Amino acid sequence: MALGKKVYKTNVESLFQPARPGRKNAHVIVCGNEKGGSGKTTTTMHLAVALLKRGFRVATIDLDVRQRSLTRYIENRAVWSDDNGLRLEMPDHFRFDAAEFDSALEAQMKDFSSFVKAVARIEATHDFLLIDTPGHDNYLMQLAHSMADTLITPMNDSFVDFDVLARVDARSNEVTEVSQYAEMVRKARRKRRDTDDGLLDWIVVRNRLSSLSSHNEQSVFGCINDLSLQLGFRIANGISERVVFRQYFPRGLTALDEDVLNGPGERENPSHVAARKEICNLLGALRLPIDDHARQRAVAREMWIAKSAKPLEMPDIFAD
Ligand SMILES: Nc1ncnc2c1ncn2[C@@H]1O[C@H](COP(=O)(O)OP(=O)(O)OP(=O)(O)O)[C@@H](O)[C@H]1O
Ligand SMILES: [Mg+2]
Repeated sequence: MALGKKVYKTNVESLFQPARPGRKNAHVIVCGNEKGGSGKTTTTMHLAVALLKRGFRVATIDLDVRQRSLTRYIENRAVWSDDNGLRLEMPDHFRFDAAEFDSALEAQMKDFSSFVKAVARIEATHDFLLIDTPGHDNYLMQLAHSMADTLITPMNDSFVDFDVLARVDARSNEVTEVSQYAEMVRKARRKRRDTDDGLLDWIVVRNRLSSLSSHNEQSVFGCINDLSLQLGFRIANGISERVVFRQYFPRGLTALDEDVLNGPGERENPSHVAARKEICNLLGALRLPIDDHARQRAVAREMWIAKSAKPLEMPDIFAD
């Protein structure tokens, strides 16, 4: 993988072919956008906790080997949970460390094989895998996109963010050219279809929504709408600009941890209630496989875990 000083330009097209060997059942959600700071990590963390709270088995992978914000978010959560005797829901997290070899190709092969192995293991044991990607293009990020069942692209209603998807005419606001990231998703989609006939559901999620929509935001939204038909993505309302979505990072908490955010007898902050509703609505808009069957499985699993955590009693061991 391109790390630090070297920029590798090797063509790794052939490496993509066996991307999803032995697919089992985990639904793969990738959060991606080449625009840095668009809300990928925040969205990944909140969705992971939302799914955990519904009883699903969730794994996460941090592909951002430089910033590692998701890894730190989860580490902070584990420490806060332990230090305070809490039992916070935790995803099984895999931090990705880039291989360092003299040869670019060797490093890419090693990274590729560790990534595919990790995904194969997770797919057999979890319901959801969420992958957070860096805000720049690299071949692992491309590989993750070609494995996705659901691709979430968080985006602010701003022409600066829109530029990562497409260019617009300065007078008419008509889309004139599709940008590099959108091209990459197009390719990833094609690869996914060729590999296992899978379809990638791409959703552009509007992040940091404000309650008062400006004329500029409406123009950007109009452009996203036009582009969605051209590129085949859906649009969903994401989360608003709220302090609660960022202030608890050092404790690894999210807006969904209401029982921990409020002390006993404390009144709940209305912004937290609204934040939870937004995440819940986003989860609905993503149309993930959270059907009744999956929910029943999750409940049964929880009961089984709760039961198996208790020590066996004599009648369980010796039948009458
Ligand atoms: N809805 C929101 N409300 C308030 N703050 C937000 C919201 N979404 C993101 N942020 C803040 O914006 C910053 C960037 O968000 P985040 O780290 O999730 O983006 P990213 O796309 O993962 O960035 P990068 O490309 O650098 O990895 C962070 O400080 C985060 O706390
Ligand atoms: Mg990030």
